[in-house]
Amino acid sequence: MPETIAESRCLVIGAASGIGQATAERLRASGAAVVGADLPSARWPGGHAGTSGPMGRSLTMDVTDAGSVHSAVTDAVRALGGLDAVVNCAGVLGPVAPAAATSVDDFERILAVNLTGAFAVSRAVLPVMAAAGYGRLVHMSSTAGKEGVINMPAYSASKAGILGLVKSLAKEFALTGVTVNALAPGNVVTPLFQEVPAEQQAAQAAKIPMGRFGTPEEAAALIEFIVSPAASYTTGFVFDLSGGRATY
Ligand SMILES: NC(=O)c1ccc[n+]([C@@H]2O[C@H](COP(=O)([O-])OP(=O)(O)OC[C@H]3O[C@@H](n4cnc5c(N)ncnc54)[C@H](O)[C@@H]3O)[C@@H](O)[C@H]2O)c1
Repeated sequence: MPETIAESRCLVIGAASGIGQATAERLRASGAAVVGADLPSARWPGGHAGTSGPMGRSLTMDVTDAGSVHSAVTDAVRALGGLDAVVNCAGVLGPVAPAAATSVDDFERILAVNLTGAFAVSRAVLPVMAAAGYGRLVHMSSTAGKEGVINMPAYSASKAGILGLVKSLAKEFALTGVTVNALAPGNVVTPLFQEVPAEQQAAQAAKIPMGRFGTPEEAAALIEFIVSPAASYTTGFVFDLSGGRATY
């Protein structure tokens, strides 16, 4: 098992953009072996899916398709020679609209990516890491999942679901050497966050004691710790990254 992050073999999902991209870059800069995965339609900052570009090796994966998750995880394990850490940053915001203007189809689509997708990833990677006796899995929740954000009923519900998911899985795998945690960012400036209407961004900014939004690099720094060997006695936990906005 790895003793440092530099010795870790990492899979980052949703690695073509935002927090996932920054995390893949940070882990790589720290010396870890990193495979990134994202949708076939993803626009990678350098190189293309399935190639070794500036972003390192990258694979296609759609977390809403269990077969795609399974085959990408199999390819990642083969490419890396094992799997020590998995960071799941795949996510969508969906429509920012009142409940009555949010269709059931929209609700289910957002849940399919943000929550069911996280379960599919968990099912695929946890047995691999448990069999090796070591592993780190982190999913993205959100302050929205803890507080509930107005006009984001599906997104908030999906991110609340992540809290229950990681707490349940953490207990199931507690004796295996594998930790399962969540990160709950408040507002991090990424393409997803840019979809939030300006007036709602301003309302959220007013709630942040530090008086500014977070950066993907700040998220990546905390994620690196969560998936490091040093984070050995924390599982089923939700790490806040909110500039002081989150209060519980
Ligand atoms: N940015 C924020 O303020 C913020 C706050 C709280 C939580 N989060 C969460 O952090 C995670 C990363 O968000 P981000 O802000 O970096 O967004 P982003 O849009 O920059 O990146 C999300 C990535 O997920 C990928 N993705 C979407 N659907 C996918 C699917 N079905 N299968 C595989 N990949 C898929 C996208 O292609 C994209 O590359 C998300 O789960 C998001 O909900 C973000």
